[in-house]
Amino acid sequence: MCGIVGYIGTQPAVPIILEGLKRLEYRGYDSAGLAVCCGDNQLQVRRAQGKLRNLEKAIQLNPAEGFYGIGHTRWATHGRPTEENAHPHRDCKGDIVVVHNGIVENYLSLKQQLQAEGHVFQTETDTEVIAHLVEKHFQGNLEEAVRATVKELTGVFAMAVISRSDQSKIVAARSGPPVVIGLGDQEFFVASDVTAILAHTQDMLFLDDGEMAILTPTGAQLCDFDGRQVSRQVSRILWNPIEVEKGGYQHFMLKEICEQPRAVRDTTLGRVGLDTGRIFLNEMDIAPAEFSQFRQVRIIACGTSWHAALAGKFMIERLARVPVEVDYSSEFRYRDPIVSEHTLTVVISQSGETADTLAAQREAKQKGSKTLAICNVAGSMITREAAGTIYTHAGPEIGVASTKAFTCQLTALFILAMRLGQANHSLDESTSRCLMQELLGIPGKLEEVLSNDAVYEALARRLHHFRNALFLGRGIHYPIALEGALKLKEISYIHAEGYPAGEMKHGPNALIDENLPVVVLATRDPASSESRVLYEKTLSNIQEVKARDGLVIAVVTEGDDDARKIADHVIEIPRTSELLAPILEIVPLQLMASYRRAPRLRRGSAAQSRQKCDGRVTARAPV
Ligand code: BG6
Repeated sequence: MCGIVGYIGTQPAVPIILEGLKRLEYRGYDSAGLAVCCGDNQLQVRRAQGKLRNLEKAIQLNPAEGFYGIGHTRWATHGRPTEENAHPHRDCKGDIVVVHNGIVENYLSLKQQLQAEGHVFQTETDTEVIAHLVEKHFQGNLEEAVRATVKELTGVFAMAVISRSDQSKIVAARSGPPVVIGLGDQEFFVASDVTAILAHTQDMLFLDDGEMAILTPTGAQLCDFDGRQVSRQVSRILWNPIEVEKGGYQHFMLKEICEQPRAVRDTTLGRVGLDTGRIFLNEMDIAPAEFSQFRQVRIIACGTSWHAALAGKFMIERLARVPVEVDYSSEFRYRDPIVSEHTLTVVISQSGETADTLAAQREAKQKGSKTLAICNVAGSMITREAAGTIYTHAGPEIGVASTKAFTCQLTALFILAMRLGQANHSLDESTSRCLMQELLGIPGKLEEVLSNDAVYEALARRLHHFRNALFLGRGIHYPIALEGALKLKEISYIHAEGYPAGEMKHGPNALIDENLPVVVLATRDPASSESRVLYEKTLSNIQEVKARDGLVIAVVTEGDDDARKIADHVIEIPRTSELLAPILEIVPLQLMASYRRAPRLRRGSAAQSRQKCDGRVTARAPV
């Protein structure tokens, strides 16, 4: 997972590339580098091990100038995280430089072949073979050399290449990881992610697999690997460039957690008929009548999006009475799955570019299934290949741990479940209206949850010395247990597991003692009999943990005194429908994971940061 950015135009390239790399630093941060070219045939490469600030320091000491160039932030796959292995990589003469994201699977055989032909390698990376292959094929025209090169590569790659011998040109190519081209006024950009260049342009072209882009100071041309010209509609990314700034927050994850009320509201509005409770999904090529034809729903996703899919199963089965299967994209694509034209395949992806999810989507389509995307990035590959998309209006998600995209995915799934239920007539008008009122109340309730952040911070401190944690839930709360555990693992490097609470008695109870904090999702919806049963059972699970001296933190519905009596700590969330409670429950778990980070990263509380961003507070007290 590396980041790529490139610029060609009339401005000095170095500050633009560095700024883009800052936006991508979350993708990789063991080393960084850039190469720029100026008019007098000079190709200047600067690289540094470690964080981007090391590269900035290197450039302060040894400035580089030019009106076009490429940059890279690396997360090592092949070769140690050293300065030598940092991108850009060069050919033998230093005429050609390459930045690359992905893995060249046949690099060893290519390297041996190139070495036998006299090429001298400087690094341990797979990327360096690309530079030497371009050198081998170069006969004065860079795009032709890159075209010949990509045909020899197996694996996945997104790359950008410049050459001293074919100046004022950046050539980019994609086979797997995303490449986006930004269109400015007499300036053009290339990046692995729109957030890297959003400050400069909102007009983007997304490359498909097997395509290249040739950028010059006067234009951007797209073609396929056989040289045939490709025309592509420009996607206008409606995100506000301000959204890619930290805006006074300590880090992007905290900012994005705090944006959830706005994000969920934006994902809901425009899709709901307030008087009738009807759902409108106009953004798709699935006729309204078709929604009642599906006999099965299959949801495919990876990571956090997969956790949303698991919760979506409960929503769709409850409201639409259609059976739902949930798959990891990486499993689905390799096991000859059974889907048909009566299956609606829902693909969930924040980025819309995850390779396994895209491949799984293609597999489902090829078997005759309609695919519907739930996605956050307009114009991304998954949305282009779907019959329709429910866009989550989360805005750019830069924090590597997904937060606001998750709650927006849950919101979109709830809307889809209602839509399917209305089409099937399994959801009547009065129930629809009640559910819609509940949904519309969620952003306000998210504000309430966020306002208690001092509680979560104190609990994060309480968890500080533990090395393991367990998260338990039943029913729709089990996916939230999985997601809570994932956040803690990802952000705090604490070993954490999510487990179905009812399964603890079949072995894992043996692990519980005073050294294992257990977070239990124990909310209840008094209006739902299923919820009451699950709640009672979950209270028994808390008793089991207490009987083994485990420390229990229970997430409960406000006013719940029963859980308070047995748990060591409780986190209260506002009352809501059981199917919507996950959107509220996950927020304290996100914040606890965020506050469990190294103390220097959590100087401001969520409420303080939020106030500062709203302009109401100008100074933030360190904790
Ligand atoms: C992982 C990210 O690499 O990809 C997760 O760390 C994310 O946060 C997962 O959930 C899937 O990504 P996407 O874009 O398909 O939702």
